[in-house]
Amino acid sequence: MSTGLTDEVLASFASTPDKRLRTILERVVVHLHELVREVEPTVAEWETAIGLLADVGAMCDDTRQEFILLSDVLGVSSLVETLNGPAVDSGGTESTVLGPFHMTSSPARALGDSIDDVGGGRRALVTGRVVDPSGRPVPGAEIDVWQCAEDGSYDVQQPDVQPAGNGRGLFHADDEGRFRFRTVVPGHYPIPTDGPVGALLSTTRRHPYRPAHVHLLVSSPGFGALTTHLFVAGSPYLEQDAVFAVKSDLVVEFGNVDEDAEGLDRPYRHADVEVVLVPASSAAVDVG
Ligand code: BEZ
Ligand code: FE
Repeated sequence: MSTGLTDEVLASFASTPDKRLRTILERVVVHLHELVREVEPTVAEWETAIGLLADVGAMCDDTRQEFILLSDVLGVSSLVETLNGPAVDSGGTESTVLGPFHMTSSPARALGDSIDDVGGGRRALVTGRVVDPSGRPVPGAEIDVWQCAEDGSYDVQQPDVQPAGNGRGLFHADDEGRFRFRTVVPGHYPIPTDGPVGALLSTTRRHPYRPAHVHLLVSSPGFGALTTHLFVAGSPYLEQDAVFAVKSDLVVEFGNVDEDAEGLDRPYRHADVEVVLVPASSAAVDVG
């Protein structure tokens, strides 16, 4: 089939002053035209695709970003995050998706505080250390934490049940880069399914579940900010995350502890993690 039409569209962008924008638009055109030539959609199928995008846009507002959810279930968010995260040989902790629930700022809390303002059954202690690739501590690193409750709901999804800020905390590491907080073991949960992305999952017989995890956003001046998760070892869906964000190095044991700890009666679960930040200048990863 002639590619004259494709060449004509590419030429129409030739005067774009921003070179990066021009390159991106050209590649989008090339790949979209290739896709259409390969799939040969009927007009009705093309209208269905346009209708899906229109529905996704209509679902978006200040608190709901259905386009990000679409990007998530297509694996694009995970790919973009990985490409922009620490390079494989940098020694840095792997990054993964931000997700849509970091929409509100986390309350500042002191080291050792609990982020669980409700009181759940499976209590946990998370301890850790923020270091550079040589193992040197990153004193004062900021650790922003957010997670769902045991039933799999975030505070913003249950404003009548959970106080705002439940499951969230903003911490600063001590002089040795150490941090600690108390919480409950989060549950696995479905991503929002009440919109067009949920309909897409249902039509394609895909489940909407994410394995249990705690979100971390760790930063310090001079280092690349790290968006990552602690995945709870043994959680359902670790092998089938609906948004393709699991990386095996991020799976952490929440082991059973049978002795009392500060603020925690036995038994409780304990996860201990090392978070490695890489200098801001380090190159991003090539995921092939
Ligand atoms: C989350 O982990 O909060 C999340 C990520 C992607 C889609 C939905 C939720
Ligand atoms: Fe989450």
